[in-house]
Amino acid sequence: MAQVQIDNVKIAYTDAGSGRPVVLIHGYPFNRSLWNEQVAALSGSYRVIAPDLRGFGESDSSDGSSTMNRMAQDLAALLDHLGVPRATFGALSMGGYVTLAFYKQFASRVRALILADTRAQADTEEAKQNRAQQAEKALAEGMAGIADAMLPKLLTPETVSKRPEVVKRVRDMMLKTKPEGAAAALRGMAERDDQTSLLSKITVPTLIVVGAEDAITPVADSEKMNQGIAGSRLVVLENAGHVSNLERTEKFNEALLDFLSESSS
Ligand code: MLT
Repeated sequence: MAQVQIDNVKIAYTDAGSGRPVVLIHGYPFNRSLWNEQVAALSGSYRVIAPDLRGFGESDSSDGSSTMNRMAQDLAALLDHLGVPRATFGALSMGGYVTLAFYKQFASRVRALILADTRAQADTEEAKQNRAQQAEKALAEGMAGIADAMLPKLLTPETVSKRPEVVKRVRDMMLKTKPEGAAAALRGMAERDDQTSLLSKITVPTLIVVGAEDAITPVADSEKMNQGIAGSRLVVLENAGHVSNLERTEKFNEALLDFLSESSS
């Protein structure tokens, strides 16, 4: 496993293939294995870098709150370590929150954006309170209760009933997450800025992907980003929920590969 120490926090990452760099940023409460199929599909033509965000996978946890800005700074430090000045960023859900925070701080380091199953808006007051409760629950009881409650929101009813291998994959990722890492990210997500006003400042090619049945960041959120970002393209994947890269892997990869080859010309 490759790793780098950033601010006394060990950050683990995958670095596969060669070519134009593509950074893939996972959502909550997952880890970089979320992207295994995308790493396999892209690394024949691109250098694919997929970190475990702080508190997730094989990276260390940090106390308190893992803010989106802090995680974006971790990414900048990781790219410095790897000698990568500029990259395309592909991100799912919380990864998208981190990516928008990255764009705000380091726009010149972003060549293109892929925003999957995410949104630009901040949390509502109700969502913030819910995050605080979830953080307490994770710390008191571990991840099993959180995983059980989240699963039906992450995947379509059809995936839940007919694709036990996908359900197991998603559940196992959640169970491997350290409760303190999950709690810190929940606090960080609750504190995140509203990035709606950033959308009109995004000047790089942008692909937006969303599962038609996404119950956490619904299609309407992607439509808002698509309206706000000049020249962006929206792909809605039928028969997919929030984890659209796992539910419609082939179509998801096709959309990424098409976009990457167009945005390189
Ligand atoms: C994620 O998939 O990263 C989270 O569900 C996003 C969120 O809770 O807002």
